[in-house]
Amino acid sequence: MARTALVTGGSRGIGAAISQALKDQGCNVAATYAGNDAAAAQFTEETGIKTYKWNVGSYEESTAGIAQVEADLGPIDIVVANAGITRDAPFHKMTPEQWQQVIDTNLTGVFNTVHPIWPGMRERKFGRVIVISSINGQKGQFAQVNYAATKAGDLGIVKSLAQEGARAGITANAICPGYIATEMVMAVPEKVRESIIGQIPAGRLGEPEEIARCVAFLASDDSGFINGSTISANGAQFFV
Ligand SMILES: NC(=O)c1ccc[n+]([C@@H]2O[C@H](COP(=O)([O-])OP(=O)(O)OC[C@H]3O[C@@H](n4cnc5c(N)ncnc54)[C@H](OP(=O)(O)O)[C@@H]3O)[C@@H](O)[C@H]2O)c1
Repeated sequence: MARTALVTGGSRGIGAAISQALKDQGCNVAATYAGNDAAAAQFTEETGIKTYKWNVGSYEESTAGIAQVEADLGPIDIVVANAGITRDAPFHKMTPEQWQQVIDTNLTGVFNTVHPIWPGMRERKFGRVIVISSINGQKGQFAQVNYAATKAGDLGIVKSLAQEGARAGITANAICPGYIATEMVMAVPEKVRESIIGQIPAGRLGEPEEIARCVAFLASDDSGFINGSTISANGAQFFV
């Protein structure tokens, strides 16, 4: 039976690779995005994967969007909370707006995405929750107090959900990517990017597909005993 998967921020970057990997695995996939209509339209044209636009920071938009996805594709079995943003600044210059935007998208966005889907997973006794955290949630990062706080929070979410969902056949796991070659990372100045690569023992950035393959495994029926775990995919940059 084909599983139905929802990937937030699934139209670009790591999320696009995840959407494609889940489709290749036989899932019916819905990918969401926030506002980049052109990228979403191009993604649908290239992959045949349907996209939906809503802000994960809004509970109302999330519940309405998820209801639409379920009406179109059926009950969601797999949810990948991937949508995320950065608003970097050293702490002494970080504004309350920069703090709040990142909290709303990266942390509250995970709650807003998983919470409406969770009761159905409990009823059907199957679910796969995968949250895309970050190496910087594990180790902290200069100028990312807001981002690191949300990504560390993501790990607390999956460890707690794992305990709540285990008896209902639901697993919740996180992936902590290191630096991956997406627009988010390619947008930083070249000099900074070179210095980042210098800190990665693998000597290169990761590819979105390398994260997508981790997600595809965690989303599969075979991964049922892996619950509450964190997979680090960072080219040996950091160990916990
Ligand atoms: N790239 C890395 O090196 C790296 C490393 C560690 C962790 N991560 C994490 O991996 C995830 C994906 O990163 P990425 O580099 O692939 O990002 P990206 O290329 O910037 O893509 C972000 C995606 O999220 C969507 N999005 C952003 N804000 C949203 C909102 N409020 N509501 C709904 N969708 C929203 C975007 O939609 P639009 O297209 O409409 O903007 C886009 O589809 C993020 O959680 C990020 O923190 C990335």
